[in-house]
Amino acid sequence: MEPAATLDRLVADAPHRIAAAASLDQLHRLETELLGRSSVIAEVKRSLGGIDPERRRALGRLINQANTLIGPAILARRAELERIETAAALAGDAVDVTLPGRSGEQGTLHVIRQVMDEIVDIFVALGYTVATGPEAETDWYNFTALNFKPDHPARAETDTMYLDYGEAAEGVLLRTHTSPMQARYMEQHPPPIQVVVPGRVFRRDPLDPTHSPVFHQVEGLAVDTDITFADLKGTLAHFAREFLGPDITIKFLPHYFPFTEPSAEMHVLYRGSWLELLGCGMVHPAVFEHVGYDPEQVTGLAFGLGADRMAMVRHGVTDIRHLFDPDRRVLSQFR
Ligand code: FA5
Repeated sequence: MEPAATLDRLVADAPHRIAAAASLDQLHRLETELLGRSSVIAEVKRSLGGIDPERRRALGRLINQANTLIGPAILARRAELERIETAAALAGDAVDVTLPGRSGEQGTLHVIRQVMDEIVDIFVALGYTVATGPEAETDWYNFTALNFKPDHPARAETDTMYLDYGEAAEGVLLRTHTSPMQARYMEQHPPPIQVVVPGRVFRRDPLDPTHSPVFHQVEGLAVDTDITFADLKGTLAHFAREFLGPDITIKFLPHYFPFTEPSAEMHVLYRGSWLELLGCGMVHPAVFEHVGYDPEQVTGLAFGLGADRMAMVRHGVTDIRHLFDPDRRVLSQFR
């Protein structure tokens, strides 16, 4: 076909073909076909050199006409297709807020942690602060600073788990109670103090329904110039009522701890039987001396609660082993 006729045809067809391009991809291919290096227009342009001037001018006009028609038409169609494709992509991503949600499984604090938090909160409301201490403890803080004599049976390897750090660090053990924090805290803070210490403790106790070799305690210590045994009883009675209910019956039984004098155990009457919940007493003067306090100037009360036993009482759990069993059917009951 004559180049002029071919160009005429091109100009006549182009608008429909451009309008019919259904995607940006198709439009791109069409643009290459119509305006690219091997398009009809490019071919005619290349042939212009060898033809006479009059025909060249005529063809030149046709080429311009084709370019001014096709170029803007492609640009316009591209803008339109971009709008359409963006709208489709957004619609595809749209969230249907009317669909029911997919709920993820939510974890929860372990029941012992919940109970420890609750115990701590009761004392925080009385003005106590909270501290924590190391689980690997020295013989000094776990026993000696607390007035345990060198031959006290609790020091024996049958009761205490010792850690082997070689000769460089002898007498390192897994703390058998949270009481070492009494000494650590008093060393770091001058009186008056009121502090509770939640934490994990370790003993060579065989696992049975009420004993675990790993268990939890909350230690309490208050030191001031005139703290009495009445303060100790009043504080712990208040705690028992807050934790177990206003009608709870408690009793204090004389006991012995090397680091308190006098010492006692508090028992509660719960569902018909007496349960031992904690050990307590007035801080022994020897402990004050070990931490640099003057026993003539201060008095103090101290107590140590068994948090696992408290969790059992609170939730009616009859065997401590349930609390350490990683069975979610048991644990998920305590949310
Ligand atoms: C003590 O550990 C003292 N440090 C408590 C104390 C602190 C007395 C401050 C005076 C002043 P005891 O060994 O009795 O005392 O333990 C305290 C509580 O921990 C017990 O009442 C009991 O509830 C709990 N307990 C003891 N052994 C275990 C065990 N193996 N498993 C679970 N709970 C235990």
